[in-house]
Amino acid sequence: MRAAVVGTGYVGLVTGVCLSHLGHEVVCVDRDEKKIENLKKGILPIYEPGLQEILEKCAEKERLFFSSSLQSAGGKDFLFIAVGTPSDEIGRADLSQVEAVVEALSRLELVEDLLVVMKSTVPVGTCIWAETFLKEKSRRPERFRVVSCPEFLREGTAVDDFIHPERIVIGAEQEGDARKVQELFAGIETRFVLTDTRSSELIKYASNAFLATKISFINEIAGICERAGADVKEVARGMGLDSRIGEKFLNAGLGYGGSCFPKDTLALIYQAEDLGYDFRILKAVAGVNEGLRKRAVQKLERLLGGNLQGKKIGLWGLSFKPGTDDIREAPSLTLIQKIKARGGEVTAYDPLVKGLSAAGIDGMRYADDPYGAAEGADAVVLVTEWEEFRKADLARVKKAMSGNVFLDGRNVFDPLEMKGLGFVYEGMGRGTGGEMS
Ligand code: UGA
Repeated sequence: MRAAVVGTGYVGLVTGVCLSHLGHEVVCVDRDEKKIENLKKGILPIYEPGLQEILEKCAEKERLFFSSSLQSAGGKDFLFIAVGTPSDEIGRADLSQVEAVVEALSRLELVEDLLVVMKSTVPVGTCIWAETFLKEKSRRPERFRVVSCPEFLREGTAVDDFIHPERIVIGAEQEGDARKVQELFAGIETRFVLTDTRSSELIKYASNAFLATKISFINEIAGICERAGADVKEVARGMGLDSRIGEKFLNAGLGYGGSCFPKDTLALIYQAEDLGYDFRILKAVAGVNEGLRKRAVQKLERLLGGNLQGKKIGLWGLSFKPGTDDIREAPSLTLIQKIKARGGEVTAYDPLVKGLSAAGIDGMRYADDPYGAAEGADAVVLVTEWEEFRKADLARVKKAMSGNVFLDGRNVFDPLEMKGLGFVYEGMGRGTGGEMS
């Protein structure tokens, strides 16, 4: 089948490249001409394991194309909208990019039917709005129909998630349209959820909000563990063995970041508000997450004798999670700003992220490895749980430091072993008697 994918961010690029991998003819469209020129040369704007190889293979087989013009959507069976829906200044989903694509689509002179598939994460009712708009404004209203097909890809494992999804959700007002989209994924073994567009749109937000809730819940338990002398990792292990709870997303630490959970929880709070509903749990989830970085800096201050003035901090990990170079809403950014505001000096190391000026953070040093970040440091703070840190020679780390404080923001290490190595070690919620705010 023939598909166009508009938007070449994480979602669009992975969708386009992987659909082509399934055997479809795909054109990826983006208004950013430089990005398109680079993609034509095989240069990806993002790091995503496995994507480069598939892109090259599909381009070679002449099944994958790139274009900066929406006109190339003409003659296709499907058009995926996969543009960004970032937070606006108060936290609602900013739909301007989606609206611009729908507006441009309404001006296309189509000679064949085009099924518009909404991949972008959009508030409930957006697909209905888009279809109504296209029917009202287009000169070929009968050609358009809009369906919802939210994505559940995780950065760092997006290709594998596409090929082995736990479910594919398709929301359509007419079952025939949902079946057409289902055919696109022929060859993928999974469960399909065929539903209406509104429910489909909400499945996406509810899924992310629920996962965020699990994370904030375990972080609250971590707060209790510190006061009670319990270990949150043990508590999570015991809880997770109950299949109704599940062991995943019960890792306490510095909380969730990235381009999805922070934005989608806020957007859902506002959608609820717009519908006259007060989503109290989700407000608390977002509040708890916000507080975690402050909690970590307070810990660091306490461990370093009450203040951070002139203290040297080695920071391990900048990306919002391992396996990606994405720093959007990464806990590292807030931590660095708070440490610097209190007079501390930061030397950071991340396996992929080599600078933070894109995030407006200057005036800090970067090391070439974890030991370089620890060199002369009063404290080392582990922010992102990269495998490289798990494997680090901790005795060498200790030797390189001038102090001995280790704050483990992701509970990677064993407290007893760390103490045995001579560290003053604290994790997040590991019963080490922290008196926290
Ligand atoms: C998330 C969802 O997992 C995907 O299903 C969804 O498609 C995607 O958002 C999206 O909406 O596009 P992603 O943002 O790539 O994917 O990252 P996750 O692996 O879900 O992690 C999110 C954040 O939660 C990270 O900062 C991670 O460190 C944190 N986290 C995760 C925890 O603090 N504790 C945990 O137990 C799990």
